[in-house]
Amino acid sequence: MARPHATRRGDIIRRILITGANKGIGLACVRAALQQAGDIDVLLGSRDSERGAAARQALLEENPAWASRLQVLPIDVTSADSVDAARTALLAACADDPAPLYGLVNNAGVGLASDDLAAVLAVNTLGVKRVCDAFLPLLRDGGRVVNVSSASGPKFVSQCSAARQAFFTDGNARWTDIEELIAQLSAPGDAAQACARLGLGEFNPYGLSKACVSLYTLILARQHPRLRINACTPGYIETDLTRPQALRRGVSPQEMGMQPPQRGTVSILHLLLGDDPGSGYYFGSDALRSPLDRYRAPGSPAYTGP
Ligand SMILES: NC(=O)c1ccc[n+]([C@@H]2O[C@H](COP(=O)([O-])OP(=O)(O)OC[C@H]3O[C@@H](n4cnc5c(N)ncnc54)[C@H](OP(=O)(O)O)[C@@H]3O)[C@@H](O)[C@H]2O)c1
Repeated sequence: MARPHATRRGDIIRRILITGANKGIGLACVRAALQQAGDIDVLLGSRDSERGAAARQALLEENPAWASRLQVLPIDVTSADSVDAARTALLAACADDPAPLYGLVNNAGVGLASDDLAAVLAVNTLGVKRVCDAFLPLLRDGGRVVNVSSASGPKFVSQCSAARQAFFTDGNARWTDIEELIAQLSAPGDAAQACARLGLGEFNPYGLSKACVSLYTLILARQHPRLRINACTPGYIETDLTRPQALRRGVSPQEMGMQPPQRGTVSILHLLLGDDPGSGYYFGSDALRSPLDRYRAPGSPAYTGP
């Protein structure tokens, strides 16, 4: 799976794992990372090996020279066994390297219009936690973590009660608080009513899952000062996730304002490979900081608050 620890010029390889990378924004990030510099190797995470292999093959048809720098890593973020197996495979392939990863992009995501709260949280929130638990110990000092969140997160928080907005923004929450919130919402009964009762406003599983992952990013950054851990939105990008929105309205993805997948890599690649972005922040698709409790349009001034 892995090429040697260092290149022939002696540069230490920067190995990056991107989950959900067989298509959409994840795949565009794989391409952009490989294009950026020759010392970058990419593990293309895919829950389905064949879809991962097909994505790798398509990239090698674009540039056969990427063959030694691009490998598929099967990983289903909802499965503890799959995540364990992915970790074991990485460690086995990099036996000489105690910290074989430079970067982790938690990109896998589902459920923009889904009402299935459990399924959406399983990938977008609990899946990110599971992958971080497994792979953060393998990151070298100064390594980067990028959690691909969404503007749906701040939009969701903006319609919560004041107390709940504070929960999502004031930096006092712990992961166990997120777990407790999820448990309360998952109890038998009407989830929409539970949302209202818990100050979460409208029932919106995707927005909730992304608000939780942005909050988790703050918590994680506090726990790992040796790493750079941030979240961002990629922007409004035409992929299998979003295309149905245009179809439902009978307009084209472009008329809906969707941009091509490569545009969705800007903030992710900035946080992954750019100058030190700090840690524990949420960024807009223009790679500038944004608040956690309201939408900041790309191109408007960066958020400078806590
Ligand atoms: N597109 C947008 O406008 C937009 C906006 C804001 C945020 N985002 C976020 O950007 C990320 C990428 O989305 P996208 O638009 O590129 O969507 P996409 O084209 O549907 O890609 C989603 C990727 O996640 C993978 N995935 C789903 N469930 C998984 C699981 N259990 N384990 C591992 N991988 C899994 C999918 O694999 P399969 O092919 O096997 O299904 C696919 O590779 C998501 O986190 C999404 O929420 C997107």
